[in-house]
Amino acid sequence: MKNVLLIDSGSGGLNVLKECVAVCPCCNFLMFCDDKNLPYGQKTKSELQKITKQNLENIKRFFDFDIVVFACNTLTCTCLDEAREQWKDVCFVGTVPAIKPALGKYTREQILVIATEATISHNILINKTKGIFCKPLPQLANLVDANLDNLWADEIMAYLQQSLGDFRGKFKAVVLGCTHYFALKEQIRSVLGDVEIFDSANGVARRLKFFVEQEKDATSASYQVQIMTSGNSNLLGVFWNFYNS
Ligand code: DGL
Repeated sequence: MKNVLLIDSGSGGLNVLKECVAVCPCCNFLMFCDDKNLPYGQKTKSELQKITKQNLENIKRFFDFDIVVFACNTLTCTCLDEAREQWKDVCFVGTVPAIKPALGKYTREQILVIATEATISHNILINKTKGIFCKPLPQLANLVDANLDNLWADEIMAYLQQSLGDFRGKFKAVVLGCTHYFALKEQIRSVLGDVEIFDSANGVARRLKFFVEQEKDATSASYQVQIMTSGNSNLLGVFWNFYNS
């Protein structure tokens, strides 16, 4: 059974974890929620690289990962190349905004991408896709993690309304470029109107499956899931409830 480590700054990774378990129920999963460093999206590339290097080295001491999933767009576009370089025997799976599937159905002008500031600055596809509109939502990841038991909380809805309200009726599709936002599809629709929403959880899980299937016993449906936090252990209960919801 492969040891699969997922990393994110918090609950965003749990959305990816759920899909990975559904698609690959034959791994030993550890979800590392780096709440101590939330929000990743407001940090510089070199800060994120330092944090991630340290996290991977620390985790390797007690969890011998074969595969690492960056369940986070921000880490993927800032730290993936460096991590692959450092850990040559480990397979890495990244998370990127689902811009390609959205472009398969809509024109650039019809698509809104929402993501962290770091992802909008560093993601190659965002920067190459001229004419696509990107809106950073710097506070949203924190708001999600602070309100996991009520994702319709007034502070989330007020922030969405203030940040996205002017775009109502202007776009036909929304690409969720931050894994924390995957849990807010209905909330985003309630602000933007009738839009098709694209997330990348299934793409990540299918990429993981590709690596896992290279193993003989990959069809056995036995798996293990552990969740850990880097800062506040009181969050564990909230994260477990969210994962099981
Ligand atoms: N969930 C992360 C992402 O996909 C980052 C959120 C944050 O910590 O800013 O980019």
